[in-house]
Amino acid sequence: MSSRTVIRNGLVITASDEIHADVLIEDGRVVALAATGTPAAESWTAEKTIDATGKYVIPGGVDAHTHMELPFGGTFASDTFETGTRAAAWGGTTTIVDFAVQSVGRSLREGLDAWNAKADGNCAIDYAFHMIVSDVNQETLKEMDLLVQEGVTSFKQFMAYPGVFYSDDGQILRAMQRSAENGGLIMMHAENGIAIDVLVEQALARGETDPRFHGEVRKALLEAEATHRAIKLAQVAGAPLYVVHVSAQEAVAEIARARDEGLNVFGETCPQYLFLSTDNLAEPDFEGSKYVCSTPLRPKEHQAALWRGLRTNDLQVVSTDHCPFCFVGQKELGRGDFSKIPNGLPGVENRMDLLHQAVVDGHISRRRWIEIACATPARMFGLYPKKGTIAPGADADIVIYDPHAEQVMSVETHHMNVDYSAYEGKRVTGQVETVLSRGEPVITEREFTGRAGHGVYTPRSTCQYLL
Ligand code: URP
Ligand code: ZN
Ligand code: ZN
Ligand code: ZN
Repeated sequence: MSSRTVIRNGLVITASDEIHADVLIEDGRVVALAATGTPAAESWTAEKTIDATGKYVIPGGVDAHTHMELPFGGTFASDTFETGTRAAAWGGTTTIVDFAVQSVGRSLREGLDAWNAKADGNCAIDYAFHMIVSDVNQETLKEMDLLVQEGVTSFKQFMAYPGVFYSDDGQILRAMQRSAENGGLIMMHAENGIAIDVLVEQALARGETDPRFHGEVRKALLEAEATHRAIKLAQVAGAPLYVVHVSAQEAVAEIARARDEGLNVFGETCPQYLFLSTDNLAEPDFEGSKYVCSTPLRPKEHQAALWRGLRTNDLQVVSTDHCPFCFVGQKELGRGDFSKIPNGLPGVENRMDLLHQAVVDGHISRRRWIEIACATPARMFGLYPKKGTIAPGADADIVIYDPHAEQVMSVETHHMNVDYSAYEGKRVTGQVETVLSRGEPVITEREFTGRAGHGVYTPRSTCQYLL
């Protein structure tokens, strides 16, 4: 028996269009759009009607960078797949791509199996995986081919964190050469971790232990240098490159130059770099630890370059890098030594709203909002047009968004499993009202109506964004 839902009277916004249209959903998929009030739209009958008068009807968000339950610095990111995907749904995100981790000395397969086990049966929304490659060797290179074939088509490498996730230039080059052959996309954490570790040691020796020194030792120039080196290695290998969590204006410039040369080089930034700064890292009483992430928050002056990059398409994606650690008991591990503060910020619930605020503030257009938060991440990571748009055949992952609602972001009202909000007290205009995941209401007029286990693993094709 088929089930039909129709969404009437809303403004449908995709990366390419804004139209007053009704949307017909059948068996979890979009089957048709028709201009509101036309005979075609009026002729539809459905078991269920959602009235979106005065609201936006947008594709569910695709957050291509999350770390649920990530082991880091002797602890684990505080959101599980259950709590983290529920919070994502509250914030209008209907797909996450999380990072499975290969441990040094273990196979990619083992890491992927472990992450599948954590997520399986627990997610409120659909999910997929990238693979963190911590140990490039002949075996793991072969495994990369197999993973690409089965839908894990992107691999993160780290130029930072020596002794943990770090890869040297030779390992990076080999992985890039492999991805040039098998269609995989290398995602790079671009910071010169070897140089940073020297600066960390020197800072601590001078007694510079507060959170703000995390930002000072992880220099913008060392992000730019690593970004430049990653681009050149990718060029040598003939491989595409996606630079994650870009925060420094000098790194944006490296990516822009590569793109002007016609290279397949892409950049992602995150809301924390657009809305927060080293001012937050400098908050007293160890409060700055709440803002410790890598790449670090930068002085406010960098934000203009990030906004410009998003407008010129030198940056294509905004993901959250959601990696929450509670202040009590987790961030506190680094009292007296900033290098022991677990790295990462909560944000999976806040991204769609913060980017809508960017529309209100005039940084980006409404269609660009949907492009950087839904459509491009879906294309970049091989999920399009199943995810990231509203079109016949697409999954009915749809958000009814109230562009006029006012809200104040706060730990008191958010749903992420973390004891602070990085945006505490921030007023934003716009709020998620209803969220459908494959046609099922997971948020209904600001009530959670989903369930753990509704979300399914979603294998991906290779990058659909290459020049
Ligand atoms: O500080 C961060 N970003 N933590 C998560 C791990 C990473 O490097 O993305
Ligand atoms: Zn990273
Ligand atoms: Zn350019
Ligand atoms: Zn990350």
